[in-house]
Amino acid sequence: MSEFDKLLTSYQNRINSKLESLLPSDDSILSEAIRYSVLDGGKRLRPILVYLIGELGNAENGSLDILAGSVEMIHCYSLIHDDLPSMDDDDLRRGKPTTHKKYDEATAILAGDALQPFAFELVTNINISDSDKLSIIKSLAKACGYQGMVGGQIKDIHSDDIKDVESLDIMHSQKTGRLIQSSIETAGILSNLRKQDIESLIEYGDKIGLAFQIQDDIIDIESPSTLSGKDQGSDVEKDKLTYPSIVGIENSKVRAFDLAEEAKEKLQLLDRNTDNLCKLADYIVSRKT
Ligand code: IPE
Ligand code: IPE
Ligand code: MG
Ligand code: MG
Ligand code: MG
Repeated sequence: MSEFDKLLTSYQNRINSKLESLLPSDDSILSEAIRYSVLDGGKRLRPILVYLIGELGNAENGSLDILAGSVEMIHCYSLIHDDLPSMDDDDLRRGKPTTHKKYDEATAILAGDALQPFAFELVTNINISDSDKLSIIKSLAKACGYQGMVGGQIKDIHSDDIKDVESLDIMHSQKTGRLIQSSIETAGILSNLRKQDIESLIEYGDKIGLAFQIQDDIIDIESPSTLSGKDQGSDVEKDKLTYPSIVGIENSKVRAFDLAEEAKEKLQLLDRNTDNLCKLADYIVSRKT
């Protein structure tokens, strides 16, 4: 295992134990469904980004943990809803039955509904100035709302008008890139980074966010379920509009690789050691899961 892989594992362990304690743990069905959906699985990419950005500044560890928990909860809510029969209608997530399969549709919808505001409530508990809290909440709200994730998801569901790569880029950036980008921006605010450094990191986030979804589309075709934890070929079966469906698999790989290189170039604008963020860009476009 490389030093970087060890770092990823240590950050995964860190966020897993934090989530374990942050999530509700009464014996209600809602609490059970939330814990089922969030714990035990997932690469934890968004929390890892929070921690990697945290390495560049001076945030308190406890604050980084809360923000990392918050972005992962927003992500998990989006996965629960993304898998619903009225959305992608998928049965497998993180190697387990999707939440609506394990429980029922109403419970899955409500588990997602509960996770989203909980993520925002958590941010209010971070020990920073009110103005920084507001900036973080605004960034996350914009990233997951109609201009961001939800705006991208509706384009994914009603994709008939999308025929060119530019529109596809916008859809991918909205549905997946914006939350990745906001994880970076909010961690930058929490870590008291300089405004111009945060701007460069946001541009890095834009590139890796798009690359992440292109790689996700490639994984749907190439990775067996045993590796990805999701049903292989789900996009093809449901005639989804994806990068490979428009430009082909080889061009998709080239685009993802190019975006990772462009992301790394943005890091050079920072006067800091960004080696780990460089390695993360490479990881994003080489991952098979
Ligand atoms: C899958 O996200 C959905 C997308 C936004 C592409 P991840 O690939 O980060 O899923 P987990 O959290 O590792 O399961
Ligand atoms: C999911 O995109 C994007 C969000 C959850 C917002 P996909 O539908 O491609 O994600 P997977 O492949 O089901 O994980
Ligand atoms: Mg989807
Ligand atoms: Mg899906
Ligand atoms: Mg996918």
